[in-house]
Parts: sequence; structure tokens; C-alpha cells
Amino acid sequence: MTCSIAPGKIILFGEHFVVKGAPAIGFAVSKYAKVCVEDGYFQVISKQTGNIEQGSVLYRAVKRLITYANSIFKCDEDVRILVDSEIPVGSGMGSSAALSVALAHAYLTHCNASFDKKLVNELAYEAEKEVHSKPSGIDNTLATFGGFLKYRSGVFEKLDIRLGDEVGFLVVNTNLKRQTGIIVEEVLRLYEKYHEVLENVYTAASVLVEKALKSLRERDYESIGRLMLLNHGLLWTIGVSHEINDLIVHKLVGKGCYGAKLSGAGRGGIVIGLVNKSLSTRIEEELRSEGFQVFRVNPDYEGVRSVEDN
Ligand code: PMV
Repeated sequence: MTCSIAPGKIILFGEHFVVKGAPAIGFAVSKYAKVCVEDGYFQVISKQTGNIEQGSVLYRAVKRLITYANSIFKCDEDVRILVDSEIPVGSGMGSSAALSVALAHAYLTHCNASFDKKLVNELAYEAEKEVHSKPSGIDNTLATFGGFLKYRSGVFEKLDIRLGDEVGFLVVNTNLKRQTGIIVEEVLRLYEKYHEVLENVYTAASVLVEKALKSLRERDYESIGRLMLLNHGLLWTIGVSHEINDLIVHKLVGKGCYGAKLSGAGRGGIVIGLVNKSLSTRIEEELRSEGFQVFRVNPDYEGVRSVEDN
């Protein structure tokens, strides 16, 4: 049996504004999807939900990836695929992309193909098209290569950023599910109606990302935190926050995080806080006792890789 893991992702700065050409920054996180491939008749089995039915999105995505891989080189299509993920689904953490990337890597390894990460990323992007109508490619690129990425108008740039071990991120899942496409459309309509006002907000978002890059490189956590709050404010301005997002931002900062913001599409989803690790256990425990679903992540700098089956 051949197994690979790939990380989920978080958008740190610039979501929504990126849709109209502003830059954004995302990073891979230490929550993983694992896929194992072995000989057998074609079957997709999830550790969480059992046998995956033929008509389902996951089944179709897996099939599409395998078929695409076989159009590039010949490999055995009769494989049994086992998937297992610790990445929350539908919260903007790139769960489907991490699965696709882990599958591509495990399948190519199983086939003894000679491959590089570029091919893994290409195969995963093909599967992502089955899940999202117009995937930006950021999720699969982060799951493949790990680390921090800047992206703008479809161009990805790997960043030489490495945060210190003394900090991490708290992720609070609001469990409010939403559809990214619908929120994006609403934001675009708001922009059309108020563009004289909002042009300046979009410019501010671009400038913010450039400043954040500098702060990230310098490991200036106070400044990164402040910029996260400013970014949350800009997202509130374009109408994608929710009272639960705002409440969690206030709680995270009130309890000692350097800064916090909603991450991804908004209107629920997840809120992230940058935290000094000396405080994180206390903050986590307090939030949990108040009924919030919270967990800790670190950046993943490695991306997809092989693992032992256990
Ligand atoms: O749904 P998520 O968390 O992967 O993020 C969506 C990010 C947006 O900027 C709102 C949309 C996009 O395609 O970039």
C-alpha cells in the first residue's frame, strides 16, 4: 500500500480583493488529508464516511484524476483508494484540494512513475475542476508545495517566509456553512454599485498585503496582528463578515492574540488568530469552555509527501 499526505490551507491576507486583481497571501497548515492506494478493483473508501458512491463529487474527482493521469502515462486503473482527512470540510481550508494532491502523489508513487511536484499539482487541479466550478488553483498549489504563497491574477509566487517556532495560529470554526460563489457575486455587485467609494478600499487591501509581506519576512508579529485586524475591517466593509466572525475576532484579541480575522469567503467559515505559543493553550481552553470549536495549526513548509501506512 502506498500512502501520501498533503496539507490544508488558510488565506492569511487579501481574500475577496484578490478577485478583482489585488494580491493575496495564503499558507499551508498542519492539518492533513491522507490517501492510500493499493491493488484491487476500483473503489473509493473514506475512513470518515465509508464507501464513496459512484455519483458523488469525490468519486467523480478521483475518477477524473486517474483518467487524466492515464492520458499522460499508462498505469493500473484498478486500484483501491482509501481516504482519510482531518481538515474540516466546507470551511475554506482546502480539504478537497489536499485530498486531490495526496491522491495524485500516492497514485504516481504506486505506479512507479517518474514525476515531480509540478505534475502532482497539475493532476490535482484537474480533480479540483470537478469540485469547484472555477478553482483559482491556490488550494492545490499550497497543498503541493507547502509554505507561504502570494497570488495575484492567477500567478503564484512562493515566498521565502518562515515564522519562528514561538508563534502559531488558532483556528475557530464557526460551523456556519456558506457558498463561496454566492458571496463573491454579492461582493462584485456591491463593488459595481459603490465603486467610487470601494476603489479606495481595494487599493488599501493591496497596500496592506505588501506591508504584510514585509512584516512576515521580519517576523514582526505585532505588525502582522495589526494588519490582520485591518484586513478584517476591510472585509467587514465589503459585507462578508458575520456577527459570529466579529465576536470571535474580539475574543481572540481580547485574550491575547496579536491579531485575528475571518479567513476565506466569510459569513461564517473560520476565524484565525496569530498567537504566541506561551498563551495558546490557555486561550484554546477558554474558548472551548465557552463552546467554541477551536484548534491550533502551524505553517507546513513541506507540502505533499509519502508516509508510512499506519
Ligand atoms: O472559500 P475559500 O476560503 O477557499 O476562499 C475563497 C476566497 C475568495 O477570495 C473569497 C474567492 C477566490 O476565489 O479567491
